Amino acid sequence: MRIHKIAAIGGDGIGPEVIAAGLQVLDACARREGGFALDVTDFDWGSDYYRKHGVMMPQDGTDRLRRFDAIYFGAVGAPDIPDHITLWGLRLAICQPLDQYANVRPTRILPGIVSPLRNVSGPEIDWVIVRENSEGEYAGVGGRVHKGLPEEVATDVAMFTRAGVTRIMRFAFELARSRPRKLLTVVTKSNAQRHGMVMWDDIAAEVARNYPDVTWDKMLVDAMTMRMTLRPETLDTIVATNLHADILSDLAAALAGSLGIAPTANLNPERHTPSMFEPIHGSAFDITGKGIANPIGTFWTGVMMLDHLGEKAAAARLMKAIERVTADPNLHPPDLGGTATTRQVTDAVVRAIARENE
Ligand code: NAI
Ligand code: MG
Repeated sequence: MRIHKIAAIGGDGIGPEVIAAGLQVLDACARREGGFALDVTDFDWGSDYYRKHGVMMPQDGTDRLRRFDAIYFGAVGAPDIPDHITLWGLRLAICQPLDQYANVRPTRILPGIVSPLRNVSGPEIDWVIVRENSEGEYAGVGGRVHKGLPEEVATDVAMFTRAGVTRIMRFAFELARSRPRKLLTVVTKSNAQRHGMVMWDDIAAEVARNYPDVTWDKMLVDAMTMRMTLRPETLDTIVATNLHADILSDLAAALAGSLGIAPTANLNPERHTPSMFEPIHGSAFDITGKGIANPIGTFWTGVMMLDHLGEKAAAARLMKAIERVTADPNLHPPDLGGTATTRQVTDAVVRAIARENE
């Protein structure tokens, strides 16, 4: 029996609700598939922990995570604590030290889900966004001085390193190569930002020489929003900076039907450290505790985690079960225009896993 050690961090808001649902589905998947089990350890880190201890997680939190095979993460953020404290105190405090530099965000329109784009019926959107996840605009370099005085200054310095850009570019070209269309779009803002973004373009061209079989092009991020909306079928794999891909992937999720279905993986591709798997959405205060959070993003995230753990058959089975459930509009939660609860969607996916024969 293969045992995979999973650290589960529900976090805040709807995070614990969707992670509990996700663990139930993953367990059903492991039982149905056989041959492996998940050994799950729960961590109560997040805003409640902060209110008690003044920190989002213990000092040695990240080190404790190192002994796991993967991290399954909900969301962070609470209405009464500033977002930069919660985000930097937990999510970024894990991603950066564990060097999860490749953030991978697949977008597809799942069966039964309707895109808000008038001319899109489904196959037009099949993208993977690769987000540089370790530096750039979220490197944490900057400062704020003379607080509250008229001469106050605040800076956030976008920091791009040759090593950081090269490794994410290689990752993106490899991913593009592994997909049928072998198509990569490199997103920057190199017209206005003439240092880091121009280096990003230069490195893309250098790395591209090793991938003659991959067709690639460049887009400025503002024009990219138009292309995603008006010509989605021309895109496949997309690579962008931490900030740009953060924004583009929320757009991608909305174009594919809802933020509630979008998954992501924070990968350390070399597997020196555990990778972290999370839905894209945040803690969604407006629906917390109502039992209506869409758990599909967390389930799809579970597919990515199973895949990463080498459980390919289980991953494929879970994806099929998810698609079987999304195909039925009666099982759509409110964010998709239906009335189904988190519980109903979860139970339906568990049943679909059991029924799936292949
Ligand atoms: P959000 O993603 O929490 O919510 C945006 C909208 O989408 C809300 O109307 C929410 O109800 C809806 N939504 C999100 N996930 C849903 C789901 N699974 N099912 C149904 N509806 C869903 O983003 P928002 O409101 O900007 O941020 C709320 C908090 O979450 C903030 O504290 C923010 O910092 C944090 N956040 C944390 C993230 C993370 O932990 N990775 C990512 C994004 C935001
Ligand atoms: Mg975001």
